Amino acid sequence: MGFLSHIPSMAILKIARMGHPVLHQISETVDDPTDPEIARLINDMIDTLQDAAGIGLAASQVHILKRVVIFIVPESRSGEDEEDSETELTIMINPVIEPLSDETNLDWEACLSVPDLMGAVERYSHIKYSWSTPAGKREERVASGFHARTVQHECDHLDGILYPMRMTDLTLLGYAEETNRNIELLRRGHGLEDGFDPELQVAEEG
Ligand code: NI
Repeated sequence: MGFLSHIPSMAILKIARMGHPVLHQISETVDDPTDPEIARLINDMIDTLQDAAGIGLAASQVHILKRVVIFIVPESRSGEDEEDSETELTIMINPVIEPLSDETNLDWEACLSVPDLMGAVERYSHIKYSWSTPAGKREERVASGFHARTVQHECDHLDGILYPMRMTDLTLLGYAEETNRNIELLRRGHGLEDGFDPELQVAEEG
């Protein structure tokens, strides 16, 4: 303990960007979720996510190949149903996703590792997912809509997958600044011809 020990530790980690090989590696299972090293990693990931004003972060994005993800579902993106409501910060160690049906939906995503861009991706509409908490307890939730999309996006990072790798129509990949001015494109990426308010379509980065 040095003379700085009264200052709470805080670290903002460097976020890897698309093109860095660490983003395409498979992350390792965490043997002991209660390991103090994992607790320190999680604290640094929370600091990093807050600093970047994102909604989700996987450990691989900060160059640590462990199966750890943090995310929130902000009130602005919560849907009407209970499985897609605002969610406080969730810390997941060794998450596992199970689709609850074959139903998918198309919508916009953005990623802290793919800055300035947004793209529309098909994801499962309804999932069940489970994870270990930092206390080592296994938990489970059912999710749909934006909540389900966020979990799938973040867990893909643990398997070395970035959202553009899931895209089938690359006309739906663009700079957020341009895309947000292109109402027709916004609607198409939202899986709708009309009837939604494009002002809601702010790209939240995970
Ligand atoms: Ni991401």
